[in-house]
Amino acid sequence: MTLAPSILSADFSKLLEEVREVESFGAKWLHVDVMDGHFVPNMTFGPVVVEALRPHTRSVLDCHLMVNEPEKMVPWFIKAGADYITFHAEATRNPQALIESIKKSGKKAGISVKPKTPVESIAALLPILDLVLVMSVEPGFGGQSFMAETLQKAKWLASQKKQNHYSYLIEMDGGINAFTAQAAHASGVEVFVAGSAIFSAKDRKKAFDELERAIR
Ligand code: DX5
Ligand code: ZN
Repeated sequence: MTLAPSILSADFSKLLEEVREVESFGAKWLHVDVMDGHFVPNMTFGPVVVEALRPHTRSVLDCHLMVNEPEKMVPWFIKAGADYITFHAEATRNPQALIESIKKSGKKAGISVKPKTPVESIAALLPILDLVLVMSVEPGFGGQSFMAETLQKAKWLASQKKQNHYSYLIEMDGGINAFTAQAAHASGVEVFVAGSAIFSAKDRKKAFDELERAIR
């Protein structure tokens, strides 16, 4: 089980300090939310932030591209030093080619589905994916409430994985806290993204430890 703190909720004016803090708690992954102001009604940053962090961290950089036409931007994130590159099923016409190009570059490829997108729509891609990211809030903002109905998708992905011996990781993103993480864990989730539950906590170390306990 892996906890992936989302730097979306970190203080960008001292990003590296924030990263070092969660790494000192034991974080091995960092979730990096890229928003283009089109696919989602919010904007963050591009590959320059990944490039800037890369020499300073050995953590897995788990890049979540909430962008239109991800095929244009994927090469930038490959070059910047991303480890996992996840794009949205809703944002591209040829997801298979994009997955293949990510994998060919030596990176791990993920696909994400928004809460209203049926997860069965990506069934044909499951054999070639390294990760499936189930959105448990509408993408765009941190600090929203968990949509429990999305747990069904994790369960379905877990059963498909078991039946067919697929190798993708099941990740959940949005509204994860110590309580919802337990439900996600019970539904087969393996990678848990948490932004505000960690970075907005009064005692971040305590919040991180509680999350770790919830997914053990
Ligand atoms: C939302 C982002 C999430 C966000 C989660 O669109 O994809 O990664 O950081 O934030 P919390 O954990 O606060 O819901
Ligand atoms: Zn995300």
